[in-house]
Amino acid sequence: MSLIKNFFMIVVALFFIASDIASVEALTYDEINPQVEGYVASLPTAKKDYKSRQRPILIQGAMTAEVGNLIKALKNPVVYWNMHYLFVAGTYKNYPVVVSRTGIGMENAAASTALAIKQFNPIAVINQGTAGGYAPNLHVNDIIIGNNSINCSMYKEEYQAAGEYDITKQILRGTPAYDKDKKEDTEFRRFHEFKADEKLLRIAKTTAALNPNWNVSFGTIGSANGWNNSIDHINFLRDNYGVDAEEMETNAVAQICQNAELPFIGIRIISDNTPLGEQFDLATALPCQDFSLLVAERLIRNIKAGKF
Ligand code: 5AD
Repeated sequence: MSLIKNFFMIVVALFFIASDIASVEALTYDEINPQVEGYVASLPTAKKDYKSRQRPILIQGAMTAEVGNLIKALKNPVVYWNMHYLFVAGTYKNYPVVVSRTGIGMENAAASTALAIKQFNPIAVINQGTAGGYAPNLHVNDIIIGNNSINCSMYKEEYQAAGEYDITKQILRGTPAYDKDKKEDTEFRRFHEFKADEKLLRIAKTTAALNPNWNVSFGTIGSANGWNNSIDHINFLRDNYGVDAEEMETNAVAQICQNAELPFIGIRIISDNTPLGEQFDLATALPCQDFSLLVAERLIRNIKAGKF
């Protein structure tokens, strides 16, 4: 009899645990941000310049919800503020890691990356966070890793008279950045894409293969300060430029890493997909950090083995 009773109680307990997990889906900024910001406020603030024997890995997220789990994963976290950008330095798996909250958008992403490079001298940069899927195979909670990224706001239009507006007359021009194969002191050249660092891409591929519970694909990330919701604009970028997912930071960070000659990779989770009618889900920001930490762990192993 007591066996049946115990079984019944376990079923009831499992139901409550499951409904608690399901409620994570409905997370809002107000539920996540104060808790993360409270934790950051409880951490010590740096009194001196950052010093580390080993060059840290820089892991970025634009919004508080996109960095909370990363910050909580750090051992001995210390807070650095620079121009009101938040950086938290600590260790992960016994290796120095700096987590950066870049703020939303291309300019914030670029500025905070440049500051972090100067202040922390990272060995590699991982930018991660949410993105809107274009491709029909990209559902909310899927991970997309950027083989490359393009700048969807760096365009020139063909002339069109009043009343003739057609999005397909936009020509993406590429992002101006340093090219090590050019002579010093010459102008930046336009990059139609920034490719992910080959070693980081290999590490990400191995991480994906070893963690089949994650739905990971590799493709092109399109960055701009805009949030497209028109199917015509989305189809234009997808059909002409091969964009698989859009967001607001990757290409800007890749550009600064190109200028600084630093290895870079972008890892995104699908938080919304307009063509599929899937609405933005902030809760996706949390597992994206968990997957990024798996990639970071593998990178750390490679660094320690002298393979990076
Ligand atoms: N379009 C643009 N940005 C998006 N983001 C998530 N989904 C999208 C989307 N469909 C991310 C951006 C930015 C924040 C507003 O959310 O990278 O940081």
